[in-house]
Amino acid sequence: MDLFEAILNRRSIRRYMSKPVEEEKVLKCLYAAIWAPSAHNSQHWNFIVVTDAETRRKLAEIHRWGRFMAESPVVIAVVGDPSKSAFWREDLGAATQNLLLAAYAQGLGTCWMGVADTPYEEPIKKLLGIPENLRVLCTVSLGYPAEKPVRGREPLSRKVHWEKYGVQKEINLTF
Ligand SMILES: Cc1cc2nc3c(=O)[nH]c(=O)nc-3n(C[C@H](O)[C@H](O)[C@H](O)COP(=O)(O)O)c2cc1C
Repeated sequence: MDLFEAILNRRSIRRYMSKPVEEEKVLKCLYAAIWAPSAHNSQHWNFIVVTDAETRRKLAEIHRWGRFMAESPVVIAVVGDPSKSAFWREDLGAATQNLLLAAYAQGLGTCWMGVADTPYEEPIKKLLGIPENLRVLCTVSLGYPAEKPVRGREPLSRKVHWEKYGVQKEINLTF
């Protein structure tokens, strides 16, 4: 799949089919994740793959904005070690985005749920047996999509500044 096709058409999916996800597809998502850049190539990421329905139900109960984790056949918790990288959030964020794009390229839907520094982090760590010194950046729901949401973006021309902040111009791009 063309990279731009994946980047431009991936959308967060919050409704899922009950069809299970093939383990090979999950592993390919995680393989894409570990090829993300990380500060000093520290690669301190760990991924907890949750398929157990009861654990997913508990995750959904904990995370107010992630109730659909009870429905997505897979949930992946993205875990890192702040003692290994001052940029642990960025490292795990880059890995997560790779995961989302690799899922899309395989016909799967995902939704990123923020966990670090929320009230959900400690209960999620406890539920998944994550050591005290590690952090959870996010959980990601994964499964075959049961919706096709349409979402937009603000125009690029409003986000790009040329040479100095505030200097903007019209942008015409075609893909
Ligand atoms: C750091 C971060 C945290 C997010 N947390 C949640 C969340 O808790 N629940 C949720 O439904 N979506 C969450 N999202 C998904 C965003 O709402 C979504 O990416 C955004 O609305 C744009 O939609 P799109 O992904 O379909 O383009 C999160 C995304 C990011 C990057």
